[in-house]
Amino acid sequence: MEPTSTSKRSHRARAVLVAAVAMVAVVSCSGGDDDPEAATAIDGAALYEQSCASCHGSDLRGTDQGPSHLSQVYALDHHPDASFRAAITQGTRAHHWQFGDMEPVAGLDEDEIDLIIGYVREQQDLNGFEPYPPE
Ligand code: HEC
Repeated sequence: MEPTSTSKRSHRARAVLVAAVAMVAVVSCSGGDDDPEAATAIDGAALYEQSCASCHGSDLRGTDQGPSHLSQVYALDHHPDASFRAAITQGTRAHHWQFGDMEPVAGLDEDEIDLIIGYVREQQDLNGFEPYPPE
């Protein structure tokens, strides 16, 4: 009977090891961060960097290709989330600035768009607004 119990024991040891490795993998994938809001902000930031920052700036403060999203004109009361959604999916004609038109940004699904808008609102809350028109 000895061989059977030995192999059972090593079987269990292997199962424990597999479980431990799986747990480490899960923790390292999520960055060890179990706060869902923080995870969301990170995703929105990455998507913004990828899709918007080339014109609107990594710090949201604009470039020579596009305006600052921290301008007062992009506050919720003047450009609600629907304006952001429309700008992304349909583009927008130049009307507040002299940068030219914004083309639609392809390849973003609904969830990604929501994350980007959430990130912009969060940064607006954190940083406050620049006057519009700029001084
Ligand atoms: C190729 C450059 C470019 C990229 C990339 C770009 N934008 Fe723009 N965007 C512009 C320009 C230029 C304007 C200014 C139009 C104007 O004069 O009002 C603008 C305006 C906007 C507006 C205002 C729309 C309105 O109704 O007035 C929003 C919102 C916006 N962008 C969001 C985004 C978001 C979010 C992304 C990334 C998913 C993005 N943009 C990517 C160039 C860009």
